[in-house]
Amino acid sequence: MAPIAVETAPAQSSFEDISALKAQLQEIAKTDSGLILPPDNTLRRYARAGIDLSKGYPFFPPKPEFVQDVTKIREEARGDRTYVDPGTRADKEKKALFGAAKEVNDLTTHIGTEIVGLQLEDLTDQQKDELALLVAERSIVFFRDQQLTPQAQQALGVYLGDGEIERHPQVAQVPGLGGGITLIWADGRKDNSAARTQRNFRRPYPSEKLSFGWHTDLVHEPYPPGYTHLHQDTVPRVGGDTLWASGYAAYDKLSPAFKKLIDGLNGVYKSAHQYKDENDPEGGLKYVLRVHPLVRTHPVTGWKSLWVNRSHTVGIEGFDKAESDALLEYLHNIFERSTDIQVRWKWTPGTSAIWDNRTTIHTVSFDYEGERHGTRVSSLAEKPYYDPKSVSRAEALQIDGFLNGQDLPHRY
Ligand SMILES: [Fe+2]
Repeated sequence: MAPIAVETAPAQSSFEDISALKAQLQEIAKTDSGLILPPDNTLRRYARAGIDLSKGYPFFPPKPEFVQDVTKIREEARGDRTYVDPGTRADKEKKALFGAAKEVNDLTTHIGTEIVGLQLEDLTDQQKDELALLVAERSIVFFRDQQLTPQAQQALGVYLGDGEIERHPQVAQVPGLGGGITLIWADGRKDNSAARTQRNFRRPYPSEKLSFGWHTDLVHEPYPPGYTHLHQDTVPRVGGDTLWASGYAAYDKLSPAFKKLIDGLNGVYKSAHQYKDENDPEGGLKYVLRVHPLVRTHPVTGWKSLWVNRSHTVGIEGFDKAESDALLEYLHNIFERSTDIQVRWKWTPGTSAIWDNRTTIHTVSFDYEGERHGTRVSSLAEKPYYDPKSVSRAEALQIDGFLNGQDLPHRY
């Protein structure tokens, strides 16, 4: 599939008076225009970028009707994708990236790094390759105070995705840019009222089963996203943090015997949305299902990562349901409850987070009211694989001492 076109952003300035633009859009929003006005900060960002909201906002592409349509769209669009991860050609010491940064701060031992003093828009290709390597190693990298247009975010995503980003046919998007810039914005959802009423303090995540919202994006795809970039342009003053957990470190929490048990197994992963079934029109809505390795090897680091998430991993191939439920419950708990392998991020307006969707789960803390608006670009990666010769992160880095996962004597 050919790379999608990326438009160039107009020059930026720091201060814009958006009052006239806002008044004009408010008039349009009163008509049946499909325009929901975004927050002021977002409007200012869009005005700088020359994004026209007058024909409607957000943009919703048509939703596929049948589960077969979704499967076909995903597989035909991807073909036999050969993905070259930009991190594979990076200088291991990352001199171009680190040399230009004011500060590089690891946020925890196992996951998360913040880079200070760089604008993502200005990165050279060499720095982008090194950023990919850093994300591959640290699982997530943060940049505050970004002057980032959606166009530049899209272009960076296309680069990191080796020409391809996920265009999410059925979710809200930024209009007019060829697709692929999706919105994290509850107020702009078509099903907003339903979504809002389903969520409250006691049940923040809309799920039938007990859920803490932990998930990995788009795992039902044949080539799920790798590098995923969320830029939050509007955030509440307090609350709405996002948490990520490291799949490398979750894997290293397991005993050698447990690792051996799950290495090479395949999991069954379901989509977030449901669709009608052409072959069973009366059978109700169904998920798209996909089989992927439960432990995957990262093509840049060569390290193994646990690749399960409570929201979308529904079984293990070859195991009875009771067996697979028991194994998955243990793995989800290790992943979700080990606070020492997680990073919790407090957003400020204009912050970008780029994470590796191949080695993490994430969730939001729903302890906020007010507006939270962000744009997300998901770069497609390789077909997930397990290489039996690959090693864990702790083995590769020869991490010593208490981080080495030493076995403690059992007391029976
Ligand atoms: Fe997500």
